[in-house]
Amino acid sequence: MFRMFSILKKYYKQLTGNVKNNFHYIHESSEVLTKIIGDKTSIWQYCVILSGAKIGSNVNVCSHCFIENDVNIGNNVTIKNGVYIYDGVTIEDNVFIGPNVTFTNDKKPRSKVYSYQIHRTLVKNGASIGGGATILPGLTIGENAMIAAGAIVTKDIPPNSLVVGDAARIK
Ligand SMILES: CC(C)(COP(=O)(O)OP(=O)(O)OC[C@H]1O[C@@H](n2cnc3c(N)ncnc32)[C@H](O)[C@@H]1OP(=O)(O)O)[C@@H](O)C(=O)NCCC(=O)NCCS
Repeated sequence: MFRMFSILKKYYKQLTGNVKNNFHYIHESSEVLTKIIGDKTSIWQYCVILSGAKIGSNVNVCSHCFIENDVNIGNNVTIKNGVYIYDGVTIEDNVFIGPNVTFTNDKKPRSKVYSYQIHRTLVKNGASIGGGATILPGLTIGENAMIAAGAIVTKDIPPNSLVVGDAARIK
């Protein structure tokens, strides 16, 4: 039985070029190096995910995303198109990340000068980040917070708050 399943899987892959099994889906155009991906997670076109990343269940990673090594993503997370998630970012369950959100991990970047201390970012359960928002290094976005589209987040965001603007303020 197991052998039959393996053969069918192999033929499916040859026919479609996609990696699909009972557990998760990865589009053929994506380079996914991590083995830690939960059930029912989908990774769409032209994504790069490095080997140290951990991705939970029922996560949707839309096309053109990059996920570095020291990144933890919980369950039921939506990551819209064109999001780059760098080392030091933790995203808890049920978080929504809008298109082209920018995460950062180096407060005073200089080319070829590597910071010894990565500033960690924590996005807590149920938070949503609107399209094009920028999250500066070392911040926590509280549970169920809503970050407006285009906001520049410069401080920790309290739970259940709506923040808007540059610099983002509670509305
Ligand atoms: C912030 C947000 C949740 C507010 O929604 P809302 O409560 O319905 O607000 P309104 O549209 O009634 O606007 C209220 C005021 O906030 C302003 N405003 C709304 N969104 C804003 C934003 N992203 N940045 C700056 N100001 C904003 C409006 O201009 C309006 O100002 P005014 O009172 O001076 O006229 C919403 O506008 C938003 O940004 N959502 C995220 C959308 C997104 O990125 N989705 C991603 C998936 S496609």
